[in-house]
Amino acid sequence: MIRIIVVAVMLVQAGAAHTASQVPYSSAPTYRSFDSHQAEIGRLLFYDKILSGNRNISCGTCHHPAHGTSDGLPLGIGEGGTGLGLQRTTGTGKNRIERRVPRNAPALWNLGATDIKRLMHDGRISESNDYGNHFNTPAQEWLPDGLNSVLAAQALFPMTSETEMAGSNEENEVAGAANDRIDYAWPIIAKRVRTMPEYSRLFVDAFDSLSDPQHINIVHIANALAAFIATEFKSHDSPYDEWLHGDKTALTAQQHRGRALFFGEARCSTCHSGILFSSQQFKALGLPAYGPGRTRAFDPMPRDVGRMAESDRIEDAYRFRIPMLRNVALTAPYGHNGAYATLTEMVKHHMSPQQAREQWMINKVTLPAAPWLAPADFIITEDKLEMTRQAAVSDIAIEQQPPSAIEDIVAFLHALTGRQAATGDFYIPLQVPSGLQVDMPEYDTSAEAQLDSGRKATDR
Ligand code: HEC
Ligand code: HEC
Repeated sequence: MIRIIVVAVMLVQAGAAHTASQVPYSSAPTYRSFDSHQAEIGRLLFYDKILSGNRNISCGTCHHPAHGTSDGLPLGIGEGGTGLGLQRTTGTGKNRIERRVPRNAPALWNLGATDIKRLMHDGRISESNDYGNHFNTPAQEWLPDGLNSVLAAQALFPMTSETEMAGSNEENEVAGAANDRIDYAWPIIAKRVRTMPEYSRLFVDAFDSLSDPQHINIVHIANALAAFIATEFKSHDSPYDEWLHGDKTALTAQQHRGRALFFGEARCSTCHSGILFSSQQFKALGLPAYGPGRTRAFDPMPRDVGRMAESDRIEDAYRFRIPMLRNVALTAPYGHNGAYATLTEMVKHHMSPQQAREQWMINKVTLPAAPWLAPADFIITEDKLEMTRQAAVSDIAIEQQPPSAIEDIVAFLHALTGRQAATGDFYIPLQVPSGLQVDMPEYDTSAEAQLDSGRKATDR
């Protein structure tokens, strides 16, 4: 009897899935579940500069929906700068930036998927029980307990980074504390947030475990940010998804050719695999090197050794996490250091990495001007030995394709742009509880730009 009922229910569900007009895409990843009220607090925090040492930058500054949840820059500009995207300035006087952010800001699409177990270009934040607290992070055993996901663990670190959000040691109490020990900064930030009546009320309402605002701590803040990112930036409504779902007209003929190459001869899907378009492994492409590098203790060279910095294994040198490709058309420039301005150049590099590396020129990247940093920006390119070492590490061997095939592949990559992501229609609060200004994109209101851009963040 019970079995019959179960079967009947299954049949009804299967029938519903075929007949309902708004069927969920079968191409959607499986997502972790998060609390929607906590996500709404996360939305305010994400755009609130209160989380930064000098109250001058928010997560949204570098991960803005108007720029596909990235910042449109090859290497970002952290605290000290002002503005969004290509308009972002590098600051003046004692507030000017001291360093460029050493890597390209990744987009935040679909990071709530259960397949996401490690984050960052080198995977240095991951699910693991090495320290008995569920995550392997730069804070090691000092990571607080109770974080709801790897996304929540990640959210703690931009706040303690001098270059990104904290500022420098002598400027404010957050950076000063982080300089002593990374976890000392978090209680200071949490106190800033909980002493604002609007935040304290929202937290107590949304977290069952909280009855007294005095107990709001950095874990609640990180969990709210994670809930927001995971629920807000889901994206599986692209033309490709529509095609997977049976809409024969969703892709153009060129995109179909590109799709066949992507999954076939061009072998892209051997690395950019699955519904997220990444196997989450680490591979070397030998991208042209430049920028301040991600300096490690005892390494005098301005270089980025990628995964090796985390694993300490020589065989991981210069290997980076395979990026996911959904909405990739919205997030130029490309690569872990933004070395390529266009998808075409990025795809071409995959096919002839050595040649592309040799032909790459420093004028390929448009860095926001910072004359005081210019001498160091490309200094690594003059180190012949290091350049040879980097060029020698390559995991890519794709047969050269004619230009028309490359354009077909690029057309297919455009078919991975979600409808909502493309319009940039995400709710950005005009005001946040701290009263600090929320960064808003400057709209180009000319008719041409309106037609062309198609990725505005709409304020509601
Ligand atoms: C100054 C720019 C900047 C700010 C501000 C910033 N980020 Fe990032 N974010 C980056 C960069 C650059 C990376 C990649 C760093 C790396 O791999 O070493 C990154 C990586 C991430 C990732 C990992 C994405 C992935 O696919 O692995 C997440 C999640 C993220 N940031 C969330 C946040 C949150 C939450 C905040 C605010 C608390 C924030 N970011 C503030 C620039 C920024
Ligand atoms: C051997 C594994 C591998 C294969 C095969 C591969 N890729 Fe990649 N791809 C990577 C890695 C690794 C990166 C990031 C490299 C870095 O940042 O240093 C990358 C980066 C990219 C990017 C830039 C994404 C971003 O957000 O910056 C695009 C676009 C891309 N690949 C498309 C393709 C296409 C199209 C193909 C097939 C022609 C392909 N890839 C084949 C490993 C691979």
